[in-house]
Amino acid sequence: MNVSILGCGYVGLVTGVCLAELGHTIIGVDVDKNKIESINNGHPPLYEDKLPELLLKNLKNKKFIATIDLKSALSSSEFVFVCVGTPQLDSGETNLDFINSAFTSLSEELKTRKIPLTIVIKSTVPPGTNDLMLSLLEKKSGKKEGVDFHLLSNPEFLREGKAIYDFFNPDKIVIGARNKNASERLKNLYSGLPGKIIETDPKTAEMIKYANNAFLATKISFSNEIGNICKKLDIDSYNVMDAIGLDQRIGRAFLDSGIGFGGSCFPKDVKSLIYTSKKLKYEPKLLEQVVELNEKQPLKIIELLKKSLPNLKGRTIGVLGLAFKPDTDDIREAPSIKIVDALLKEGSKIVVYDPKAMDNFKKLYPQIKYVTVEEVIRSEAVLILTEWKEFESFNYKGKIVVAGRRIKKAREAKIYEGVCW
Ligand code: UGA
Repeated sequence: MNVSILGCGYVGLVTGVCLAELGHTIIGVDVDKNKIESINNGHPPLYEDKLPELLLKNLKNKKFIATIDLKSALSSSEFVFVCVGTPQLDSGETNLDFINSAFTSLSEELKTRKIPLTIVIKSTVPPGTNDLMLSLLEKKSGKKEGVDFHLLSNPEFLREGKAIYDFFNPDKIVIGARNKNASERLKNLYSGLPGKIIETDPKTAEMIKYANNAFLATKISFSNEIGNICKKLDIDSYNVMDAIGLDQRIGRAFLDSGIGFGGSCFPKDVKSLIYTSKKLKYEPKLLEQVVELNEKQPLKIIELLKKSLPNLKGRTIGVLGLAFKPDTDDIREAPSIKIVDALLKEGSKIVVYDPKAMDNFKKLYPQIKYVTVEEVIRSEAVLILTEWKEFESFNYKGKIVVAGRRIKKAREAKIYEGVCW
């Protein structure tokens, strides 16, 4: 089938290239000319495992192309996936400006369109947004859902760094539609993929996405809470989590304690759900605690560092890992940001290394030193902030290491402390 993807950011590009791999013909649309040029030259504007290979392959076999021309893309498409960004406002509310402008453009297209269009919202949007966009479309275009177009919600559950794998191996595909016919069309588009298909209404589909992320974030804050107690009792929280994870009602996934969750999704989505809830006059105390604990968690590493170096002023502190997790160059909401801020405030000299995220970090912190692994290890104390696999092969003997993420080899250090172990 012919599909346009509106927004060639992380979700849009991965979805587009993977749909092309399933055999569909995809046109990626974005307003950023440079991004489009780089995608068409086979260079994804972000680091994601296996994406360059898949992009190149599908550009070559003409299953994927990117453009800034939305109108011509839509004219040859039966489907359009809305994958634009939904950033966060200071209040926690989701900023729907890009969604609104995408739907204004789509309503222009619908005005003159002769054949039906199936519109799919993939961006993460607060429950009720699909209903709002339906009113906007019908009002502005004068066309009717079910006759001239369909509007569905189909949230994504892709993890950065593993997004291609996750696309082809989903646990579930959630389809929020108002009628069976529309739902069937989307099911056909995904045919060949494993995973259970959940057919529901759009508002429930939107809520499933928030509940999914909020639950995973809650598991992490729970493991950090238990981890903080364990640390005071001199217990390794991983041993506790490994044991409780065997209870099938609990499960081991997302119980790795450490310096907390970061990234562009968990912090933003939990805050958005809190905002939605408060607007509805319900105080979501559990979710508020999940966020509060997470905001304080990175600074545990500074407390522990001070056990070895009570005065950090003028001391050279090495940081291993800046990305919010391994296999990505993404530093959005990364715990490393809070930790580097704290070290700067203490007056420390900071030297850092990350295999992929240094360029992004440099834009925020040009004043610190970006060095080799060897130089980081030579510093007076080393902080481990991302569990990159390659950190398992370094020599930590004789060093002071404080670990915010688990690297087994670092235990050989002269002084070794883990935040929750
Ligand atoms: C998350 C979800 O896992 C995806 O299913 C979802 O599609 C995505 O958000 C989204 O909403 O788009 P992602 O942000 O890529 O994916 O990263 P995760 O692998 O979920 O990790 C998030 C953070 O939690 C990282 O900082 C990670 O280090 C931390 N984490 C994860 C822990 O601290 N402990 C754990 O046990 C697991």
